[in-house]
Parts: sequence; C-alpha cells; structure tokens
Amino acid sequence: MARRSGAFALVAALCLLELARRGLADEPAVPAMFVFGDSTVDVGNNNFLANCKLVCRANYPRYGVDYPFQSPTGRFSNGYNLADQIAQNLGFDKSPPPYLSLPDVTIISQMSKGINFASGGSGLLDSTGGAVCTEVFNMSAQVQSFTSAVQKMGNGTADLISKSLIFINTGSNDLFEYTDIPSNTTRNDTEFLQSLVVFYKSHLKELYGAGARKFSVVSPSLVGCCPSQRAIARAKNDLDGYGCYRAANGLSRQLYPMLDSMLRGLAADLGGMRYSLADSVRMAELIFNGTVLPGANFTVLDKPCCGGGGGTGVCNRTAALCEDRRAYLFWDNNHPTEAASRVAALELFADPGVFVHPINVRELAELRT
Ligand SMILES: *[C@@H]1O[C@H](CO)[C@@H](O)[C@H](O)[C@H]1NC(C)=O
Ligand SMILES: *[C@@H]1O[C@H](CO)[C@@H](O)[C@H](O)[C@H]1NC(C)=O
Ligand SMILES: *[C@@H]1O[C@H](CO)[C@@H](O)[C@H](O)[C@H]1NC(C)=O
Ligand SMILES: *[C@@H]1O[C@H](CO)[C@@H](O)[C@H](O)[C@H]1NC(C)=O
Ligand SMILES: *[C@@H]1O[C@H](CO)[C@@H](O)[C@H](O)[C@H]1NC(C)=O
Ligand SMILES: *[C@@H]1O[C@H](CO)[C@@H](O)[C@H](O)[C@H]1NC(C)=O
Ligand SMILES: *[C@@H]1O[C@H](CO)[C@@H](O)[C@H](O)[C@H]1NC(C)=O
Repeated sequence: MARRSGAFALVAALCLLELARRGLADEPAVPAMFVFGDSTVDVGNNNFLANCKLVCRANYPRYGVDYPFQSPTGRFSNGYNLADQIAQNLGFDKSPPPYLSLPDVTIISQMSKGINFASGGSGLLDSTGGAVCTEVFNMSAQVQSFTSAVQKMGNGTADLISKSLIFINTGSNDLFEYTDIPSNTTRNDTEFLQSLVVFYKSHLKELYGAGARKFSVVSPSLVGCCPSQRAIARAKNDLDGYGCYRAANGLSRQLYPMLDSMLRGLAADLGGMRYSLADSVRMAELIFNGTVLPGANFTVLDKPCCGGGGGTGVCNRTAALCEDRRAYLFWDNNHPTEAASRVAALELFADPGVFVHPINVRELAELRT
C-alpha cells in the first residue's frame, strides 16, 4: 500500500511538473535562489578553501563526467546536483554560483540572481567537517555571509529577499560524525539531535531576520545506506533490513519529526515565514523498497558508480567507472548520482503531499509574500 501511494505520488508529480513547466516557460518562479548546506548542494565553494583536503573536494575527474564539457566543477556528482536540479525546476539554468568564487565587487549584483553558500563536509554544528576536511565553510559562516551581503545591498532589497527561495540541505555530516564516536563513550542520541535542531532553528531565524521568508528544507536521508556507511555497518555488525548502518539510519528517522515540529513552531512564531520540508527518509525508503519510479530505474542501490572498493574506495581519475550511470543510486561512496538527485528534486518540487510538507517547492515558490 505504502509502495503504491509512493509510486502514485511520483506519477502525479510528473503531471504537475508538466503544468509547472508550462507556467514557468518565460521567467523563473522566484527572482533568486540562495543555497546553504553540505556536499549534496555545494557547487564549488570548497575549491576556494586553501586548507580543505582533497577528500572534501570534487574539482578533479571523474567528478563532472556527465556535466557540460565534463567539467569537474566541485559538484560531488557525475553531473548536476540537487541544488542545480531544484534551480532547473524553478526555471533557472542551474544553481547560482559559489559565493567563495565571487569577487567582492560582484556580490551585490549577484545577490539579485542568487548565490550558493554550501560547503561539502559542513553540518549544522560549526565544528562538523573540521576533523575530516581541515577546513570547511561552516553553517554560521554561510549564514553570516548571506546576511552581510543583504546589508550591503541596502534599501530596496526586502522585496527581492522575501520572494526568493532559501534552499537548505544539511545535517548528514553531523550524523556521520556522531556515529563515529567510539561506542564506549557515553552518548545520548536525543540530546544530540535536540542540539542539532536548536542550531537549525537559530540559522533559520537569522535568515528570517535578514528578510528571507520562503524556506525549502531537506531532512537528512537514510545516511546509513551510503556505500561507505554500509561498509562500517558490516564491520560493526550493525545492519538494518536494507543492509545499511542501523545506528545512522536510526538517527535520521528520529531527526525528521523533530525538524517537522521545529519548523511548525517557527512558522507559527515568525510572521510571514513559509516553508516546505522534504521527508528524505521516506523518499529513500521508497527506492530501497524496490519501487521502480517513472523516469528512473535504479538497479544498483548499494555500490557506487565510481571508486568501489567495498565502500572505502576513492573516486578519482583512475577509479573504475560504471557504464550506465542512470542505473546507479550512488555516484561515489557518499553521494547520489545525478539521476538519483533528479528524482529527489522532482519530488521536492511537485510532490502532492506524500513526501513534502506542508506544501511543495513549486507551491512555495509561487506564494505571494
Ligand atoms: C566557523 O567559521 C568561522 C569563519 O570562517 C570561523 O571563524 C570559526 O572558527 C568556524 N567555527 C568552527 C567551530 O570551526
Ligand atoms: C534605508 O532607509 C531608511 C529609512 O527609509 C534610512 O534611514 C536608511 O539610512 C537607509 N539605508 C540605506 C543604506 O540607504
Ligand atoms: C574506549 O576504547 C578505546 C579503545 O577501543 C580506548 O582507547 C579508550 O580509552 C576507551 N575510552 C573510554 C572512555 O573507556
Ligand atoms: C537523554 O536526554 C534526554 C533529553 O535531555 C533525557 O530526557 C533522557 O532522560 C536522556 N536519556 C538518558 C538515558 O540519559
Ligand atoms: C518500505 O517498506 C517498509 C517495510 O515493508 C514499510 O514499513 C515502509 O512504509 C515502506 N516505505 C515506503 C516509503 O514505501
Ligand atoms: C530496470 O532495469 C533492469 C536492468 O537493466 C531491467 O532488467 C528491468 O526490466 C528494468 N525495469 C523497468 C521497469 O524498466
Ligand atoms: C586514485 O585513488 C587510488 C585509491 O585511493 C590511488 O591509489 C591512486 O593513486 C589515485 N589516483 C590519482 C590519479 O590520484
């Protein structure tokens, strides 16, 4: 039953997308889009961090093998990532450019079209990513860069910022790092997740304070199902029914309702705030349950297309590469393929209420503020 309703949601979503495309033929649905978060939506910010380690960069082949001109832009994908695909659904060519690539003098003019602040390895906690990457553009720095850019623009920006879409995908790296803590240390999962939600809330409030009103928030997916986490699960003998890391997936499942209730509360408190929350846990379940989706037929769900190595391999110039990238859910050991994020983008944009609440991104974009 659940499987059927999921597949139905996607068929309906495809129809809605056609309607949406027609409506949006001329102009994007929002004046600008601002992106925050981690490697699922980074389009090259990490390329500009001098101390960011190679494992937290994607600006070398085989990244980008399906991107125009096969450019390794810093996207952790074979092609376009989720930020690009949401932007495309809204009527843009792709994600706005990475903030750290912009010369100071261009920031004000670029603000009217949108900027991407996301950084691979970062999380809700500013300390997340430090150990793995040495340097990331942390969430507080992402948000502060946005608010100071808004201030630089001065008067007359309120309308632009309030009509624009704020797109956020973060939290997975916090969960990865938490599950890495040795099991003989005392931990309280609920307390940890509550602290993540507190940080999420304060970042959202700061964005709201700068004039943002339309928020698309993506909850962390079943992070324990990445090939790298499946390897850890095997080593620790902590497998769930999908052959994934039970502890990590448990955190994702516990976090979603907490984010949901935080957003409900925040929207009730902050006048004019509107949001769309994507339940990535259920979206992932649908795929792991074996549902064949319209326009997507993933046959390899547990191995990466690039750099296998039983979950520990590196995707680089010499790594083995799969032939049919559209058949793979994972591009490398930690990131989805372009095909997988396209499915997610379509759901976020046009889902009629199964995976995205209380409204989808198309509806959010079209609201008058
Ligand atoms: C977050 O980034 C800011 C700006 O780069 C930096 O000053 C701060 O130390 C970072 N925080 C942590 C905990 O790394
Ligand atoms: C913005 O407008 C307010 C009141 O209209 C004025 O006091 C302020 O100086 C203006 N700021 C800028 C940066 O123009
Ligand atoms: C936890 O175990 C590791 C080795 O597995 C040990 O080095 C460490 O001291 C232990 N920590 C505590 C708090 O017992
Ligand atoms: C974990 O933290 C929560 C929230 O602070 C608390 O209610 C709960 O009792 C704690 N659990 C344990 C086992 O300490
Ligand atoms: C996936 O299958 C599980 C086990 O049958 C079920 O509990 C869950 O609701 C399904 N999820 C979706 C999104 O279909
Ligand atoms: C999905 O792909 C597999 C392998 O290529 C194929 O056997 C199967 O028939 C396809 N299913 C659908 C519904 O297209
Ligand atoms: C690619 O990664 C493999 C495995 O980590 C490593 O042995 C090889 O040297 C790397 N190749 C390049 C060109 O960096």
